[in-house]
Amino acid sequence: MKRVLFVCLGNICRSPLAHGLFRDEIQKRGLSDTLSVDSCGTSAYHNGQGADPNNVRVAALHGVDLGDMMSRRLEDSDFFEFDILVAMDLSNERDMRSRQLPGSEAEIVRFMDFVPAAESPNVPDPYWGGADGFEHVFQLVRSGIAPLMEHVLSPSERN
Ligand code: 4NP
Repeated sequence: MKRVLFVCLGNICRSPLAHGLFRDEIQKRGLSDTLSVDSCGTSAYHNGQGADPNNVRVAALHGVDLGDMMSRRLEDSDFFEFDILVAMDLSNERDMRSRQLPGSEAEIVRFMDFVPAAESPNVPDPYWGGADGFEHVFQLVRSGIAPLMEHVLSPSERN
């Protein structure tokens, strides 16, 4: 089983969206027996809360269910229990690299490296995008899901 963890700051906007989209991609490709996915945040600001209601609403308009997401904080054990940790922005990546403990072989990647023609290293906070922020971030994250899946399934990544 290959395990993928999406990591942002609050685990209510960006990483639960990537989690839900990647979960649907796993299902669509019939890979549920070989791939699993989860998400978390580097902060505990929203521990125990569901995904942001705007995020849930916009995802639902596109047929993606985020209704069961619940925010949790990144734990040291995640560096051992997951194979690929996907940072949604540069600060998430830095936080994870500084926390990774000796013996952890988890690969840390940045989500925007999989978004075609990315203009920034960061998936933006959807609240910065005005009225269309959540729709914009939905489209951006969706565009990186299949390329990320190809990376996860690439021969160098297979156990
Ligand atoms: P997320 O967005 O990291 O994409 O879930 C944020 C949500 C909440 C906060 C920051 C970012 N916050 O500071 O509460």
